[in-house]
Amino acid sequence: MKIFVTGSEGFIGSHLVESLVKKKYKVTALILYNFKTSSGWLSELEKKNKKNLKIIYGDVRDFNYVLKETKNFDALFHLAALISIPHSYNSPKSYLDTNLIGTYNVLEAAKINKIKKIIITSTSEVYGTAKYIPIDEKHELQPQSPYSASKIAADNLSLSYFNTFNLPVTIIRPFNTFGPRQSTRAIIPSLLTQISFGKSKLNVGNLKPSRDFTYVKDTAEAFCKTLKAKNIEGEVINICNNFDISVLDLLNILKKELKLDFSLKIQKKRFRPDKSEVFRLHGSNEKAKRLLNWKPHYFGKKGFVKAINETYQWYKKLDNLKLFKDTYSI
Ligand SMILES: NC(=O)c1ccc[n+]([C@@H]2O[C@H](COP(=O)([O-])OP(=O)(O)OC[C@H]3O[C@@H](n4cnc5c(N)ncnc54)[C@H](O)[C@@H]3O)[C@@H](O)[C@H]2O)c1
Repeated sequence: MKIFVTGSEGFIGSHLVESLVKKKYKVTALILYNFKTSSGWLSELEKKNKKNLKIIYGDVRDFNYVLKETKNFDALFHLAALISIPHSYNSPKSYLDTNLIGTYNVLEAAKINKIKKIIITSTSEVYGTAKYIPIDEKHELQPQSPYSASKIAADNLSLSYFNTFNLPVTIIRPFNTFGPRQSTRAIIPSLLTQISFGKSKLNVGNLKPSRDFTYVKDTAEAFCKTLKAKNIEGEVINICNNFDISVLDLLNILKKELKLDFSLKIQKKRFRPDKSEVFRLHGSNEKAKRLLNWKPHYFGKKGFVKAINETYQWYKKLDNLKLFKDTYSI
């Protein structure tokens, strides 16, 4: 089976590509063209796992490029996106160009090239602050940031391609994912890198919001499960744990369960505008269990502690930590 992956060199994409090649699928990984011809996190893959991997450089914003490169594939995973919420306040149009037009290019190319399975990646941010929990796929969508709006638009465009052209599209909607290789814009790597660099006073923002965190190995497995699942075309499927914890709970877990010692410096500049902050995300994974035969391996508080410990061990390794020395949160 030949598979095309966009966003392949990023956090989730690299774990997905790694899982796919380990399962012996033939993968073509699209990497955003860059002046260093860096292969991003795909450079972490062991040599033996690169046998079934072909890397190409390009840009999902270029329709002709996407059309030319996506010929003769059985399945396509579309993960390429701009994802930082604060950056979407500064540069909203770039989010439309990448997240909406990029998705249009992928859908249109997949239609012309007759790809049989197209997986579009959504996000729990589209739900906004929970009106009820657990959030199922029928929960209303609330565009609380330009990022969220761009993903809602891309999801709706994808569903319109299913309804209008019968394009075999499925929307996978991960809730907050964490694990090795995630950039420090997200709360967990931000805390773990600050601790690993030896800071005793951690910079943090709002402690109230809660998230349904999923370990990246579980998220990657959910994507893989779509390849064998039947009757998922036109469906939206949450990927989550059915369990949420606040930033404050997270800090307490780091102290009590991982025995880490630190104090906090609350930085107002890290707060999102009130109407834009998503205060609670706690999802239902019933549909994923039913349609994908997937459930998280790392679940509940026990699973979360295990996963956060694995993640911490990864960040504190010197070879990994040095990769984050020049990063900053946006
Ligand atoms: N990380 C999370 O918690 C989370 C949660 C829900 C959904 N998602 C979604 O999962 C997907 C992957 O997110 P991630 O966390 O791995 O982020 P990431 O920033 O690590 O990965 C995004 C990837 O998209 C690529 N990209 C950006 N613009 C591109 C372009 N114009 N052409 C080609 N490639 C381009 C980047 O180079 C990067 O590899 C995104 O669609 C995101 O919206 C992420």
